Amino acid sequence: MADKIEVRPNGPLRVYGPFNLVDGDGKSFKLPAGEFVTLCRCGASKNKPFCDSSHRTTIKFEANTKAS
Ligand code: FES
Repeated sequence: MADKIEVRPNGPLRVYGPFNLVDGDGKSFKLPAGEFVTLCRCGASKNKPFCDSSHRTTIKFEANTKAS
């Protein structure tokens, strides 16, 4: 189970280990405690499920963070 998931402003989700992530092809990524990965939430990454900074360099992603 992930220790913490942090929503980065106008960017990815930062997920802290320990956890085991399995992608759509069944490829497994194990992450130990104390380390983190960034998961794309903008849809533009060419390395999904991971963030490759396209949110900033390519599409200038802006998250809808306004409360209604
Ligand atoms: S959130 Fe960084 S590439 Fe999508």
